[in-house]
Parts: sequence; C-alpha cells; structure tokens
Amino acid sequence: MIPITRPLFGEEEIAAIARTLESGWVAQGPAVAEFEGKVAAYTGATHAVATSSGTTALHAAVAALGAGPGDEVVVPAFTWVSTANVIQHLGATAVFCDIDLTTFNMDPAALEDCITARTVGIVPVHLFGLSADLEPILQTASRHGLWVLEDCACSLGGFYRGTHTGRLGDAGCFSFHPRKSVTTGEGGMVVTDVAGLAERTRSLCDHGTATDSEADGSGTAFLLSDYDGLGFNFRLTDLQGALGSVQMDRLAGVLEARRQVALAYDEALDDLDWLTTPTVPDGVVHAYQAYVCLFRPAEPSLDSVHSLNEQRNALMTELDRRGVATRQGTHAPVLTRLYRERYGIRPEEFPNAVLADRLSIALPLYPQLTAADQDTVVSALRTSIGVASRH
Ligand SMILES: Cc1ncc(COP(=O)(O)O)c(C=O)c1O
Repeated sequence: MIPITRPLFGEEEIAAIARTLESGWVAQGPAVAEFEGKVAAYTGATHAVATSSGTTALHAAVAALGAGPGDEVVVPAFTWVSTANVIQHLGATAVFCDIDLTTFNMDPAALEDCITARTVGIVPVHLFGLSADLEPILQTASRHGLWVLEDCACSLGGFYRGTHTGRLGDAGCFSFHPRKSVTTGEGGMVVTDVAGLAERTRSLCDHGTATDSEADGSGTAFLLSDYDGLGFNFRLTDLQGALGSVQMDRLAGVLEARRQVALAYDEALDDLDWLTTPTVPDGVVHAYQAYVCLFRPAEPSLDSVHSLNEQRNALMTELDRRGVATRQGTHAPVLTRLYRERYGIRPEEFPNAVLADRLSIALPLYPQLTAADQDTVVSALRTSIGVASRH
C-alpha cells in the first residue's frame, strides 16, 4: 500500500529523544526552548510559544487575543473543524466565510459580508501549505479594526510575497501532527512579534501563571507563582521538543523533496481534464503539506455535487483496492452535524466549501515517495477513472 504520508525519522531523532530521557527532564524545559528558537528563527518571528497541538495553539492564541462571549470571529467554511471549535469553546461565535475553489482558501470577496458590529477577528487558514490571499484580508481587518490570527497548521515553509506565513497577521499557529512537514507526534506553536501576546499565550498554556515579577515567586525555584486567569495545560514535552528540533534541521530538505513530488504530479496529471491540480498564485510559495486536487469531470454545482461525490468516492475506493491511499482534502465544518444541528448553520450558504468537501482528493505526498511509487499512483488514477465514471 502506498500511504497518504509517512513521517521521516532517522538516527538523529532517536538519539535526541534518548538524550532527553537520559537527562531526566522530560516535561517542558530546555529542549522545548531550543525548538521554539528554531521555529522563531526559521519563520523570522520574534517570539515562539510551543503548545501541545495545533488546536491548542489556536485555542491559546484566540484566548490571548481576548475573544469571548458576544464576540464573532470569521473562519473559512472549509478547514479542519478545530479552527472553528476553539472559538466556540471560548464562548465566542465562529462565523463561516466561503472559500475560493481554485485555492481552497478563504475568499476575500466573501469576507466583508461576514463582518458585523460584533466581529473581533479573522482566522485565515493557509490550507495544505498554500498561503491565503492575505493582502485583501489584512486590508479588511484594518478597515474594521480586527485582529488577524493565521492558521498555519499546514504552512510551515509557505510564504506570501516573501514573508513566511504567520508573520503578517497578529500571530500564526503551526501544527506538528504527523501529516505535517515537521512532526512531534502531536504539537503546535504560536509565533508572533507582539511581546504581550506571546506572554499571555505562554501564561495561558501554563495554567495562567502570572508573568509579572512580583507575583512569580520572586525568582525562587521553590515558591509557586500567582495566577491571574483561567489557564490550561497546553505544554509540549521536552521529548517532543527534542524531536522537533531535529525535525527542524531536516526541514529544508523535506520541503524540497515535497516540492519535487508535487511538481512531478503537476506534470504527470496535466492532461487529465477530470482532475484539477493545485493552483499556486503569483507571489506565493506553496509548502505542499498535502497535494490536493479537485475531482471535476463536469462543472460542479450544488445540483451535481451528489452524483460527482459518488464518483469521487468510487475513484478513491478503486485506488485503495489498487494499493494507493487517498483522502478528501479536509472537511467543511458547516457540513458536520455539530454545526448544522447545534448551531443551525445552512451548508448551502457555502457552496464552494461543500464542493471542496465532496470533491477534493489528496494524493500520497511525502519526501520518501519514490519515482516508481509515484508512477504507480499516476497510472492507478488513470485506470481507476473508468470504474468511477460508471457510478
Ligand atoms: C487547518 C488546520 N487547523 C488546525 C489543525 C489542528 O492541528 P492539530 O491536529 O495539531 O491539533 C489542523 C490539523 O490538521 C489543520 O489542518
């Protein structure tokens, strides 16, 4: 079976984890600090705060930005569900914005209509490693006095007009889940240039520890600090920090290998009129966390999506039978029972998100994918379409 992804670990990762075990310090400590320093240096951010996942990075950052009951935060209607969930958890409301089907990212043209007097922030998502179109999003935010938190879960190595994703908004949140280019098993990181925001985020991730010197035990190691607010335990462990540091050292090679696989797919699939390969707008560097295509044997619409979805699923089933793993790109939270039933969301108001949910297809992509395996994927796609189109 050719898997959808495969993390890349070597002797260096094993040695780094062994060193951490031998040191006896396995909770958050020096290895996490080193990992934070490497992510800050790579992205160019002044501050980096490690968290236990991409979801907890978003949760802590949205909390640190101050969203709460009565506030609305705009998120794309096609993204991993936690982008929206963390906002709901804080008592604020996630307001969905439809996406642009060519990039799978938030459609800046649909954004203005999502903003009300209650809106406090916008969370653009750089899905699959491709930066959202930030300039118009930032302009809308500044017109309305809103903060911007970039969901960079997929976009380590992704740039917008020369700047790393996560650096143009108030903060950016990364994920180190195994489908990402750097993995710590589970893990995340908030980057920001705003010192106060970094400090609040760090405090929230550590139970709400007071950060002022008078309340922190006066620099002693034996007194506990004071606590200002309700925090969480969202800390990353040093075992993971050590792993992440070594993974960061591999990043340039991993990104280049992923890019080569993606370019080979672009070329090999160019003549398929039923499959749209990823589009990379000018000025954007795609990090290729995933290679996500749109299954498009006919012009998709809400009327045709059901039968096209059956064909896509038949294609994925046939590929699976031939030993090639695929996935839908991500999902549209607006289609989940949670958002439809508990929050009364009407998915038909987000047609492109519905089409992306039902028609996207991610192909195997990882640095160790051999040219021979990639040929197998491409020929399986070409032959499986016959089976799919009979549905
Ligand atoms: C767009 C997006 N946001 C947030 C997350 C959450 O990250 P994690 O799985 O590390 O909690 C993911 C995870 O894949 C994601 O794709």
